[in-house]
Amino acid sequence: MSAPVDPATTPAWATLTELHRALKPDLRGWFDGDADRASTFSFTAGDLFVDLSKNLINSEIVAALAQLADQVGLPERREAMFTGEHINVTENRAVLHTALRDPEGIELVVDGTDVIPQVHETLRKVYAFAERVRSGEWTGVTGKPISTVVNIGIGGSDLGPVMVYEALLPYVQDGLKARFVSNIDPTDVAEKTSDLDPETTLFIVASKTFTTLETLTNARLARGWLLDQLRTSGAVDDSDESTREAVAKHFVAVSTALDKVADFGIDPDNAFGFWDWVGGRYSVDSAIGTALVVAVGPDNFADFLTGFHTIDTHFRTEETSSNVPALMGLINVWYVNFFNAATHAVLPYAQYLHRFPAYLQQLTMESNGKGVRYDGTPVTTDTGEVFWGEPGTNGQHAFYQLIHQGTRLIPADFIAVATPAHPLTDGDADVHELFLANFFAQTAALAFGKTADEVRADGTDEAIVPARVFTGNRPTTSIMAPALTPAVVGQLIALYEHITFVQGVVWGIDSFDQWGVELGKQLALQVTPAVRGDADALSKQDGSTQSLITYYRDHRAF
Ligand code: F6P
Repeated sequence: MSAPVDPATTPAWATLTELHRALKPDLRGWFDGDADRASTFSFTAGDLFVDLSKNLINSEIVAALAQLADQVGLPERREAMFTGEHINVTENRAVLHTALRDPEGIELVVDGTDVIPQVHETLRKVYAFAERVRSGEWTGVTGKPISTVVNIGIGGSDLGPVMVYEALLPYVQDGLKARFVSNIDPTDVAEKTSDLDPETTLFIVASKTFTTLETLTNARLARGWLLDQLRTSGAVDDSDESTREAVAKHFVAVSTALDKVADFGIDPDNAFGFWDWVGGRYSVDSAIGTALVVAVGPDNFADFLTGFHTIDTHFRTEETSSNVPALMGLINVWYVNFFNAATHAVLPYAQYLHRFPAYLQQLTMESNGKGVRYDGTPVTTDTGEVFWGEPGTNGQHAFYQLIHQGTRLIPADFIAVATPAHPLTDGDADVHELFLANFFAQTAALAFGKTADEVRADGTDEAIVPARVFTGNRPTTSIMAPALTPAVVGQLIALYEHITFVQGVVWGIDSFDQWGVELGKQLALQVTPAVRGDADALSKQDGSTQSLITYYRDHRAF
């Protein structure tokens, strides 16, 4: 693979630098002077309607950003991803989450193997398993049907499944529910199992590597809980055979390391595989989504995958000038590198998307939080911004103050759907309309602000006029869809996957490794003996760590 292009040396970067220097942000004036601004900068991708017009852009800026994409080789890098080149260079892997949603019948040979038949064979296996659970054919060890699936995983093996489960709650089969255990804080597994009936509970241990400390520990705790409960009630005895049968009926696994699944004691027949060319944070559409398939059913999961594929096709084929993920990624670069924006808010006006910002944190920040490029040389510009957010309108009553009047530029994505799952009324007011009025009002307030004269015209005391001025020119992107269907959720995820990719390409980084999480994991293993009371191990820690561990040991009540 060719060396990364330094974006800062491209002609487009020089043009953007000049455009930024000369830019006088004036969203009011720009809208007043151009009746077509909203339509010029609005685009569709699948079911998504995306309005970029309230961003600090004009046609020249967008054209220069598109040139930047060409000059850093975005089209070639994108094709390299879609065709299975090893663009994850530090792990020497292909990056093929897009293959997970390719329809059957196309051929995609990677490292000598056509991966599409494998993808669909696994999907069929997951679908068949899910149907057995949903129909009640799969029973627990005492013959009762399953009513709760508990996904045990962390990071990409948790955040995607839990986010989508919450997003698609209206599609969950009556009588079934899913829970998600991730944190190694024992509170998590204790709380999530406390009201469950072991006879009707099925655990899905989801771990790409099947080595993750949190997941394996939680899986052992769950197995202990299950066996204790079943033994206490007399449902199983202490024999190996009885134990094996209970584990086989109440535990399945999802992993790329099926040998390790067997070592854990889960029957390999009850394990679903995927491949090292699927990154953990890109895996919700693989067998890692098994809990979702059980909850919402194969047909809805298939629609979810179709949603991803719609956006994949758009991203792969659309000209940059109308390519929504490309434009959104490039505009993010515009803010990070030319306006020094350090954060980016994602504000879903859809309660069911309440975990979407948390999901995006791993997707974007584990992907683009890098200080070296894919050839090992230092990056030449700032890279990954902090993604954060909460559902509207909760955020309005918490942190929007800073977005409206703070000193930092915080680009924000607003997301909403036209048709709500719950069309409730308050008197004769449609509550979804009150909700969406907030979405529209917030993006207008951020864009257009309120001048001192307008504040005065309200009769405001002169002394507090400055405090009540809104500068405006605070950029937002609005994303709307007809309804929060499985396909739309898939489209939203794929949109942000590709936005993340575009930013990584501009910065020349490997968006698909995550070496930055390793050091802390290694140190935790080293520190553990000291925490357990090994004086020698304690003496090898730094002063602060020794003091913290000593505090812990002095105060721990057993
Ligand atoms: O520590 C980070 C990480 O490797 C993530 O990238 C991954 O999603 C998560 O841990 C869980 O990994 P696994 O699925 O292998 O248990």
